[in-house]
Amino acid sequence: MRKSLWLVTVLVVLGLMMAACGGGATQAPAAAPTTAAKPADKAAAPAGGAAASGKVIKFIGDANPKQWELDLVAAFEKQPGGVKVEYIKGPDSATERLAQYLQFLSAQSGDIDVYQIDVIWPGILADHMIDLKSGVPADEVNAHFKAIVDNNTVGGKLVGLPRFTDAGLLYYRKDLLQKYGYSNPPATWKELEDMAAKIQDGERKAGNDAFWGFVWQGDRYEGLTCDALEWQVSQGGGVIIDPDKKITINNPQAAAAFDRARSWVGKISPPGVTTYKEEDSRGVWQAGNAAFMRNWPYAYSLGQAADSKIKDKFDVVPIPKGEGANARNADTLGGWQLAVSKYSKNQKEAIEFVRYLAGKTGQKTSATQGSLLPTIGDLYKDADVLKAAPFFGSLFPVFSGGAVARPSTVSSDRYNEVSTAYFTQVQRVLTGEIKGAEAVANIEKDLQRIMK
Ligand code: GLC
Repeated sequence: MRKSLWLVTVLVVLGLMMAACGGGATQAPAAAPTTAAKPADKAAAPAGGAAASGKVIKFIGDANPKQWELDLVAAFEKQPGGVKVEYIKGPDSATERLAQYLQFLSAQSGDIDVYQIDVIWPGILADHMIDLKSGVPADEVNAHFKAIVDNNTVGGKLVGLPRFTDAGLLYYRKDLLQKYGYSNPPATWKELEDMAAKIQDGERKAGNDAFWGFVWQGDRYEGLTCDALEWQVSQGGGVIIDPDKKITINNPQAAAAFDRARSWVGKISPPGVTTYKEEDSRGVWQAGNAAFMRNWPYAYSLGQAADSKIKDKFDVVPIPKGEGANARNADTLGGWQLAVSKYSKNQKEAIEFVRYLAGKTGQKTSATQGSLLPTIGDLYKDADVLKAAPFFGSLFPVFSGGAVARPSTVSSDRYNEVSTAYFTQVQRVLTGEIKGAEAVANIEKDLQRIMK
Protein backbone atom coordinates (compact mmCIF):
# COMPACT_ATOMS: atom_id res chain seq x y z
CA MET A 1 0.00 0.00 0.00
CA ARG A 2 2.56 2.44 1.22
CA LYS A 3 4.81 1.83 -1.68
CA SER A 4 2.13 2.62 -4.16
CA LEU A 5 1.27 5.68 -2.14
CA TRP A 6 4.81 6.93 -2.60
CA LEU A 7 4.66 6.30 -6.28
CA VAL A 8 1.45 8.06 -6.60
CA THR A 9 2.43 11.07 -4.69
CA VAL A 10 5.39 11.34 -6.55
CA LEU A 11 3.65 10.91 -9.68
CA VAL A 12 1.98 14.01 -8.90
CA VAL A 13 3.97 17.03 -8.51
CA LEU A 14 3.44 20.39 -7.15
CA GLY A 15 1.13 22.81 -5.84
CA LEU A 16 0.78 25.15 -3.10
CA MET A 17 -1.52 26.60 -0.73
CA MET A 18 -1.74 28.69 2.36
CA ALA A 19 -0.06 31.98 2.38
CA ALA A 20 -0.38 35.11 4.12
CA CYS A 21 -2.92 37.35 2.65
CA GLY A 22 -6.62 37.18 2.53
CA GLY A 23 -9.12 37.98 5.19
CA GLY A 24 -12.41 36.25 5.38
CA ALA A 25 -11.61 33.73 8.03
CA THR A 26 -11.95 33.41 11.74
CA GLN A 27 -8.94 32.75 13.92
CA ALA A 28 -8.92 29.33 15.49
CA PRO A 29 -10.28 29.42 18.97
CA ALA A 30 -7.85 28.86 21.79
CA ALA A 31 -10.26 26.75 23.76
CA ALA A 32 -13.66 25.42 22.82
CA PRO A 33 -14.84 26.23 19.32
CA THR A 34 -18.17 27.31 20.70
CA THR A 35 -16.72 30.57 21.83
CA ALA A 36 -15.02 31.19 18.55
CA ALA A 37 -17.84 30.96 16.15
CA LYS A 38 -17.81 34.33 14.55
CA PRO A 39 -19.43 34.76 11.17
CA ALA A 40 -17.09 34.52 8.22
CA ASP A 41 -15.93 37.69 6.59
CA LYS A 42 -17.96 39.08 3.74
CA ALA A 43 -15.30 37.84 1.35
CA ALA A 44 -16.38 34.32 2.09
CA ALA A 45 -20.07 35.04 2.34
CA PRO A 46 -22.55 34.08 -0.33
CA ALA A 47 -23.08 36.61 -3.04
CA GLY A 48 -26.73 35.78 -3.13
CA GLY A 49 -28.81 33.94 -5.63
CA ALA A 50 -29.15 30.65 -3.85
CA ALA A 51 -32.08 30.02 -1.64
CA ALA A 52 -30.72 30.21 1.86
CA SER A 53 -31.19 27.01 3.82
CA GLY A 54 -30.21 28.82 6.96
CA LYS A 55 -27.57 26.19 7.59
CA VAL A 56 -24.10 27.29 8.57
CA ILE A 57 -21.28 24.78 8.68
CA LYS A 58 -17.94 25.39 10.31
CA PHE A 59 -14.77 24.36 8.57
CA ILE A 60 -11.41 24.36 10.29
CA GLY A 61 -8.81 24.90 7.58
CA ASP A 62 -5.50 26.62 6.99
CA ALA A 63 -3.80 29.11 9.26
CA ASN A 64 -3.57 31.63 6.43
CA PRO A 65 -6.17 30.91 3.77
CA LYS A 66 -5.45 32.63 0.50
CA GLN A 67 -8.01 34.64 -1.36
CA TRP A 68 -8.50 31.89 -3.95
CA GLU A 69 -9.51 29.50 -1.20
CA LEU A 70 -11.97 31.94 0.32
CA ASP A 71 -13.37 32.53 -3.17
CA LEU A 72 -13.76 28.78 -3.60
CA VAL A 73 -15.68 28.60 -0.34
CA ALA A 74 -17.84 31.52 -1.50
CA ALA A 75 -18.54 29.67 -4.75
CA PHE A 76 -19.75 26.68 -2.75
CA GLU A 77 -22.09 28.96 -0.85
CA LYS A 78 -23.68 29.95 -4.15
CA GLN A 79 -24.54 26.35 -4.95
CA PRO A 80 -28.17 25.26 -4.69
CA GLY A 81 -29.00 24.81 -1.04
CA GLY A 82 -27.42 28.08 0.05
CA VAL A 83 -25.37 26.55 2.81
CA LYS A 84 -23.04 29.04 4.44
CA VAL A 85 -19.55 28.23 5.59
CA GLU A 86 -17.65 29.74 8.42
CA TYR A 87 -13.94 29.36 7.78
CA ILE A 88 -12.01 28.90 10.99
CA LYS A 89 -8.25 29.23 10.84
CA GLY A 90 -6.43 26.28 12.37
CA PRO A 91 -3.04 26.60 14.05
CA ASP A 92 -0.08 26.83 11.69
CA SER A 93 1.82 23.96 13.31
CA ALA A 94 0.48 20.50 12.47
CA THR A 95 1.38 19.40 15.99
CA GLU A 96 -0.62 22.18 17.64
CA ARG A 97 -3.42 21.64 15.20
CA LEU A 98 -3.77 18.00 16.16
CA ALA A 99 -3.81 18.94 19.84
CA GLN A 100 -6.59 21.41 19.17
CA TYR A 101 -8.63 18.95 17.10
CA LEU A 102 -8.33 16.35 19.83
CA GLN A 103 -9.46 18.87 22.37
CA PHE A 104 -12.63 19.62 20.37
CA LEU A 105 -13.30 16.02 19.42
CA SER A 106 -12.70 14.45 22.78
CA ALA A 107 -15.26 16.90 24.17
CA GLN A 108 -17.57 15.53 21.43
CA SER A 109 -18.12 19.10 20.35
CA GLY A 110 -20.44 19.46 17.38
CA ASP A 111 -19.33 23.00 16.74
CA ILE A 112 -16.85 22.14 14.01
CA ASP A 113 -18.42 20.22 11.14
CA VAL A 114 -15.49 19.75 8.75
CA TYR A 115 -11.85 19.23 9.69
CA GLN A 116 -8.89 19.44 7.34
CA ILE A 117 -6.70 16.55 8.49
CA ASP A 118 -3.11 15.58 7.82
CA VAL A 119 -2.22 12.43 5.87
CA ILE A 120 -0.71 10.97 9.07
CA TRP A 121 -3.85 11.35 11.19
CA PRO A 122 -6.56 8.99 9.91
CA GLY A 123 -5.58 6.35 12.49
CA ILE A 124 -5.66 8.92 15.29
CA LEU A 125 -8.96 10.59 14.38
CA ALA A 126 -10.95 7.69 12.90
CA ASP A 127 -13.22 7.22 15.91
CA HIS A 128 -14.41 10.82 15.78
CA MET A 129 -15.25 11.02 12.09
CA ILE A 130 -18.11 9.69 9.99
CA ASP A 131 -17.60 7.09 7.26
CA LEU A 132 -17.63 9.18 4.10
CA LYS A 133 -18.49 6.13 2.03
CA SER A 134 -22.04 6.59 3.24
CA GLY A 135 -22.37 10.03 1.66
CA VAL A 136 -19.94 10.20 -1.24
CA PRO A 137 -20.69 8.17 -4.40
CA ALA A 138 -18.18 5.36 -4.95
CA ASP A 139 -17.07 6.63 -8.37
CA GLU A 140 -16.23 9.96 -6.82
CA VAL A 141 -14.15 8.32 -4.10
CA ASN A 142 -12.43 6.13 -6.66
CA ALA A 143 -11.43 9.10 -8.79
CA HIS A 144 -8.73 9.82 -6.16
CA PHE A 145 -5.42 8.00 -6.05
CA LYS A 146 -6.15 4.62 -4.59
CA ALA A 147 -3.15 4.63 -2.28
CA ILE A 148 -4.34 7.80 -0.58
CA VAL A 149 -7.89 6.50 -0.26
CA ASP A 150 -6.37 3.38 1.31
CA ASN A 151 -4.27 5.53 3.63
CA ASN A 152 -7.46 7.33 4.69
CA THR A 153 -9.41 4.12 5.26
CA VAL A 154 -9.22 2.82 8.82
CA GLY A 155 -10.94 -0.45 9.67
CA GLY A 156 -13.06 -0.14 6.52
CA LYS A 157 -14.12 3.43 7.32
CA LEU A 158 -13.29 6.24 4.91
CA VAL A 159 -12.15 8.88 7.38
CA GLY A 160 -11.22 11.63 4.94
CA LEU A 161 -11.57 12.54 1.28
CA PRO A 162 -8.19 13.63 -0.12
CA ARG A 163 -7.90 17.33 -0.84
CA PHE A 164 -4.25 17.52 -2.01
CA THR A 165 -1.02 15.63 -1.67
CA ASP A 166 2.43 16.98 -0.78
CA ALA A 167 6.11 16.11 -1.18
CA GLY A 168 9.21 17.78 0.30
CA LEU A 169 11.27 19.75 -2.23
CA LEU A 170 14.57 21.58 -2.45
CA TYR A 171 14.10 25.13 -3.70
CA TYR A 172 17.19 26.78 -5.19
CA ARG A 173 18.07 30.20 -6.59
CA LYS A 174 18.90 29.81 -10.29
CA ASP A 175 20.39 33.31 -10.54
CA LEU A 176 22.76 32.79 -7.62
CA LEU A 177 23.91 29.38 -8.75
CA GLN A 178 24.79 30.93 -12.08
CA LYS A 179 26.50 33.92 -10.46
CA TYR A 180 28.76 31.61 -8.44
CA GLY A 181 29.59 29.35 -11.36
CA TYR A 182 27.35 26.33 -10.75
CA SER A 183 25.62 24.83 -13.73
CA ASN A 184 23.41 22.40 -11.82
CA PRO A 185 21.53 22.39 -8.52
CA PRO A 186 23.02 20.16 -5.79
CA ALA A 187 22.40 16.42 -6.10
CA THR A 188 24.08 15.51 -2.81
CA TRP A 189 24.24 17.06 0.66
CA LYS A 190 27.97 17.68 0.19
CA GLU A 191 27.28 19.69 -2.94
CA LEU A 192 24.58 21.62 -1.15
CA GLU A 193 26.91 22.36 1.78
CA ASP A 194 29.66 23.60 -0.53
CA MET A 195 27.39 25.74 -2.67
CA ALA A 196 25.52 27.18 0.32
CA ALA A 197 28.80 28.17 2.02
CA LYS A 198 30.25 29.80 -1.08
CA ILE A 199 27.11 31.72 -2.00
CA GLN A 200 26.55 32.83 1.58
CA ASP A 201 30.11 34.07 1.84
CA GLY A 202 29.87 35.95 -1.44
CA GLU A 203 26.51 37.54 -0.73
CA ARG A 204 27.65 38.67 2.71
CA LYS A 205 30.82 40.18 1.29
CA ALA A 206 28.62 41.95 -1.21
CA GLY A 207 26.82 43.57 1.71
CA ASN A 208 23.85 41.34 2.56
CA ASP A 209 24.45 40.45 6.21
CA ALA A 210 21.06 38.76 6.45
CA PHE A 211 21.92 36.16 3.81
CA TRP A 212 21.98 32.43 4.63
CA GLY A 213 22.86 29.36 2.60
CA PHE A 214 20.06 26.99 3.54
CA VAL A 215 16.77 27.35 5.43
CA TRP A 216 14.52 24.53 6.57
CA GLN A 217 12.19 23.46 9.42
CA GLY A 218 13.96 22.83 12.73
CA ASP A 219 11.27 23.69 15.28
CA ARG A 220 10.10 21.03 17.71
CA TYR A 221 7.02 19.88 15.77
CA GLU A 222 5.75 17.60 13.02
CA GLY A 223 7.56 19.55 10.32
CA LEU A 224 10.91 18.56 11.85
CA THR A 225 9.90 14.91 11.61
CA CYS A 226 9.42 15.48 7.87
CA ASP A 227 12.80 17.17 7.38
CA ALA A 228 14.71 14.73 9.59
CA LEU A 229 13.17 11.73 7.86
CA GLU A 230 14.54 13.10 4.58
CA TRP A 231 18.06 13.53 6.05
CA GLN A 232 17.92 10.06 7.49
CA VAL A 233 16.48 8.13 4.55
CA SER A 234 18.61 9.98 2.00
CA GLN A 235 21.72 8.85 3.86
CA GLY A 236 20.79 5.22 4.30
CA GLY A 237 19.31 5.53 7.80
CA GLY A 238 15.97 3.78 7.19
CA VAL A 239 12.40 4.86 7.91
CA ILE A 240 12.31 4.85 11.76
CA ILE A 241 9.87 1.90 11.99
CA ASP A 242 9.63 -0.59 9.16
CA PRO A 243 6.21 -1.55 7.77
CA ASP A 244 6.55 -4.88 9.62
CA LYS A 245 6.82 -2.90 12.90
CA LYS A 246 10.56 -3.41 13.33
CA ILE A 247 12.08 -0.35 15.03
CA THR A 248 15.14 0.50 12.96
CA ILE A 249 15.99 4.02 14.10
CA ASN A 250 19.06 3.10 16.16
CA ASN A 251 21.67 2.99 13.39
CA PRO A 252 24.87 4.93 12.67
CA GLN A 253 23.58 6.44 9.41
CA ALA A 254 20.58 8.04 11.10
CA ALA A 255 22.82 9.32 13.93
CA ALA A 256 25.28 10.78 11.42
CA ALA A 257 22.46 12.40 9.45
CA PHE A 258 21.31 14.29 12.55
CA ASP A 259 24.88 15.28 13.48
CA ARG A 260 25.32 16.58 9.98
CA ALA A 261 22.19 18.73 10.21
CA ARG A 262 23.50 20.06 13.53
CA SER A 263 26.70 21.12 11.73
CA TRP A 264 24.62 23.39 9.45
CA VAL A 265 23.16 25.37 12.34
CA GLY A 266 24.93 28.71 12.66
CA LYS A 267 27.12 27.87 9.67
CA ILE A 268 25.04 27.68 6.49
CA SER A 269 21.71 27.89 8.33
CA PRO A 270 20.65 30.61 10.77
CA PRO A 271 20.98 29.75 14.49
CA GLY A 272 17.26 30.46 14.70
CA VAL A 273 16.45 27.64 12.25
CA THR A 274 15.79 25.45 15.28
CA THR A 275 12.63 27.51 15.79
CA TYR A 276 11.58 27.64 12.12
CA LYS A 277 8.39 26.20 10.69
CA GLU A 278 7.52 26.29 6.99
CA GLU A 279 6.46 29.92 6.94
CA ASP A 280 9.57 31.09 8.83
CA SER A 281 11.80 29.49 6.22
CA ARG A 282 9.69 30.89 3.43
CA GLY A 283 9.94 34.36 4.96
CA VAL A 284 13.74 34.31 4.71
CA TRP A 285 13.69 32.67 1.29
CA GLN A 286 11.11 34.93 -0.29
CA ALA A 287 12.87 38.03 1.04
CA GLY A 288 15.75 36.91 -1.16
CA ASN A 289 17.91 35.97 1.82
CA ALA A 290 18.62 32.29 1.19
CA ALA A 291 20.27 30.26 -1.57
CA PHE A 292 18.35 27.06 -0.74
CA MET A 293 15.15 26.17 1.07
CA ARG A 294 13.50 22.88 2.00
CA ASN A 295 9.74 23.27 1.76
CA TRP A 296 6.49 21.90 0.31
CA PRO A 297 5.07 22.76 -3.10
CA TYR A 298 2.84 25.53 -1.71
CA ALA A 299 5.85 27.86 -1.59
CA TYR A 300 6.24 27.65 -5.36
CA SER A 301 3.26 29.73 -6.36
CA LEU A 302 3.87 32.19 -3.55
CA GLY A 303 7.44 32.65 -4.79
CA GLN A 304 6.08 33.20 -8.27
CA ALA A 305 3.54 35.84 -7.20
CA ALA A 306 3.71 39.17 -9.01
CA ASP A 307 5.12 40.99 -5.99
CA SER A 308 7.65 38.30 -5.05
CA LYS A 309 11.30 39.36 -4.89
CA ILE A 310 12.41 36.02 -6.26
CA LYS A 311 9.87 35.64 -9.06
CA ASP A 312 11.39 33.67 -11.97
CA LYS A 313 14.69 33.35 -10.07
CA PHE A 314 14.18 29.91 -8.56
CA ASP A 315 13.29 26.35 -9.33
CA VAL A 316 12.75 23.09 -7.45
CA VAL A 317 14.45 19.68 -7.42
CA PRO A 318 14.23 16.61 -5.21
CA ILE A 319 15.88 16.76 -1.79
CA PRO A 320 19.63 15.91 -2.10
CA LYS A 321 20.92 12.50 -1.17
CA GLY A 322 23.93 11.39 0.83
CA GLU A 323 27.21 10.13 -0.50
CA GLY A 324 27.21 6.62 0.96
CA ALA A 325 26.20 3.26 -0.46
CA ASN A 326 22.53 3.37 0.53
CA ALA A 327 22.03 7.00 -0.43
CA ARG A 328 18.84 7.86 -2.29
CA ASN A 329 16.56 10.79 -2.90
CA ALA A 330 13.97 11.03 -0.16
CA ASP A 331 11.10 13.48 -0.23
CA THR A 332 8.66 13.14 2.64
CA LEU A 333 5.07 12.47 1.72
CA GLY A 334 2.52 14.92 3.10
CA GLY A 335 -0.96 16.05 2.22
CA TRP A 336 -4.38 16.98 3.60
CA GLN A 337 -7.81 15.37 3.69
CA LEU A 338 -11.29 16.56 4.56
CA ALA A 339 -13.20 14.78 7.32
CA VAL A 340 -16.69 15.25 8.76
CA SER A 341 -17.13 15.11 12.52
CA LYS A 342 -19.34 12.41 13.95
CA TYR A 343 -20.65 15.07 16.34
CA SER A 344 -21.69 17.48 13.57
CA LYS A 345 -25.38 18.28 13.41
CA ASN A 346 -25.05 19.25 9.75
CA GLN A 347 -23.51 16.12 8.31
CA LYS A 348 -25.41 16.22 5.03
CA GLU A 349 -24.30 19.77 4.28
CA ALA A 350 -20.79 19.05 5.54
CA ILE A 351 -20.46 16.15 3.12
CA GLU A 352 -21.55 18.37 0.23
CA PHE A 353 -18.86 20.88 1.18
CA VAL A 354 -16.21 18.17 1.38
CA ARG A 355 -17.24 16.85 -2.05
CA TYR A 356 -16.97 20.33 -3.48
CA LEU A 357 -13.50 21.15 -2.12
CA ALA A 358 -12.05 17.68 -2.73
CA GLY A 359 -13.78 17.26 -6.07
CA LYS A 360 -12.62 18.28 -9.51
CA THR A 361 -13.64 21.93 -9.26
CA GLY A 362 -11.99 22.37 -5.89
CA GLN A 363 -8.80 20.54 -6.81
CA LYS A 364 -8.45 22.24 -10.16
CA THR A 365 -8.66 25.60 -8.40
CA SER A 366 -6.13 24.64 -5.76
CA ALA A 367 -3.78 23.25 -8.40
CA THR A 368 -3.95 26.22 -10.76
CA GLN A 369 -4.16 28.99 -8.16
CA GLY A 370 -2.22 27.47 -5.33
CA SER A 371 -0.15 24.84 -7.14
CA LEU A 372 -1.38 22.17 -4.75
CA LEU A 373 -0.94 18.64 -6.03
CA PRO A 374 -4.25 17.06 -6.98
CA THR A 375 -5.20 13.58 -5.85
CA ILE A 376 -7.53 13.14 -8.83
CA GLY A 377 -5.38 11.57 -11.53
CA ASP A 378 -7.34 13.14 -14.40
CA LEU A 379 -6.25 16.61 -13.37
CA TYR A 380 -2.66 15.81 -14.31
CA LYS A 381 -3.80 15.76 -17.91
CA ASP A 382 -5.53 19.11 -17.60
CA ALA A 383 -3.78 21.75 -19.71
CA ASP A 384 -4.54 24.59 -17.28
CA VAL A 385 -3.09 22.61 -14.39
CA LEU A 386 0.06 21.74 -16.30
CA LYS A 387 0.50 25.32 -17.40
CA ALA A 388 0.19 26.68 -13.87
CA ALA A 389 2.66 24.18 -12.42
CA PRO A 390 5.22 23.46 -15.15
CA PHE A 391 7.38 21.32 -12.92
CA PHE A 392 4.59 18.76 -12.56
CA GLY A 393 5.86 17.25 -15.76
CA SER A 394 9.57 17.84 -15.35
CA LEU A 395 9.73 16.39 -11.85
CA PHE A 396 7.70 13.30 -12.55
CA PRO A 397 10.63 11.09 -13.52
CA VAL A 398 12.89 12.18 -10.67
CA PHE A 399 10.20 11.85 -8.10
CA SER A 400 9.02 8.44 -9.12
CA GLY A 401 9.56 6.19 -6.15
CA GLY A 402 11.06 9.02 -4.14
CA ALA A 403 8.41 10.15 -1.68
CA VAL A 404 8.75 8.56 1.72
CA ALA A 405 5.86 7.98 4.08
CA ARG A 406 6.21 8.65 7.79
CA PRO A 407 5.49 5.54 9.89
CA SER A 408 1.85 6.48 10.45
CA THR A 409 0.17 3.40 9.03
CA VAL A 410 2.27 1.10 11.15
CA SER A 411 1.77 3.15 14.33
CA SER A 412 -1.83 4.24 13.58
CA ASP A 413 -3.34 5.95 16.65
CA ARG A 414 0.10 6.07 18.30
CA TYR A 415 1.70 8.00 15.47
CA ASN A 416 1.69 11.31 17.28
CA GLU A 417 3.63 9.82 20.18
CA VAL A 418 6.08 8.24 17.75
CA SER A 419 6.65 11.50 15.93
CA THR A 420 6.92 13.49 19.15
CA ALA A 421 9.58 11.14 20.51
CA TYR A 422 11.45 11.45 17.23
CA PHE A 423 11.37 15.22 16.72
CA THR A 424 12.09 15.88 20.40
CA GLN A 425 15.36 13.93 20.29
CA VAL A 426 16.34 15.21 16.85
CA GLN A 427 15.90 18.74 18.05
CA ARG A 428 18.16 18.10 21.03
CA VAL A 429 20.84 17.20 18.50
CA LEU A 430 20.19 20.35 16.48
CA THR A 431 20.61 22.54 19.54
CA GLY A 432 23.83 20.78 20.55
CA GLU A 433 22.44 19.20 23.69
CA ILE A 434 23.17 15.61 22.66
CA LYS A 435 24.89 13.77 19.82
CA GLY A 436 23.12 11.82 17.11
CA ALA A 437 24.15 8.46 18.61
CA GLU A 438 22.46 9.29 21.90
CA ALA A 439 19.37 10.58 20.11
CA VAL A 440 18.80 7.42 18.07
CA ALA A 441 19.28 5.25 21.18
CA ASN A 442 16.76 7.40 23.08
CA ILE A 443 14.25 7.29 20.23
CA GLU A 444 14.59 3.53 20.04
CA LYS A 445 13.85 3.22 23.74
CA ASP A 446 10.84 5.52 23.48
CA LEU A 447 9.47 3.70 20.45
CA GLN A 448 9.81 0.31 22.12
CA ARG A 449 7.60 1.61 24.90
CA ILE A 450 5.11 3.38 22.61
CA MET A 451 4.73 0.51 20.16
CA LYS A 452 4.40 -2.19 22.84
C1 GLC B 1 2.70 19.85 5.32
C2 GLC B 1 2.37 18.41 4.95
C3 GLC B 1 1.91 17.65 6.16
C4 GLC B 1 2.96 17.74 7.25
C5 GLC B 1 3.22 19.19 7.60
C6 GLC B 1 4.34 19.32 8.62
O1 GLC B 1 1.54 20.55 5.63
O2 GLC B 1 1.38 18.37 3.95
O3 GLC B 1 1.67 16.30 5.81
O4 GLC B 1 2.60 17.02 8.39
O5 GLC B 1 3.57 19.91 6.45
O6 GLC B 1 4.59 20.63 8.98
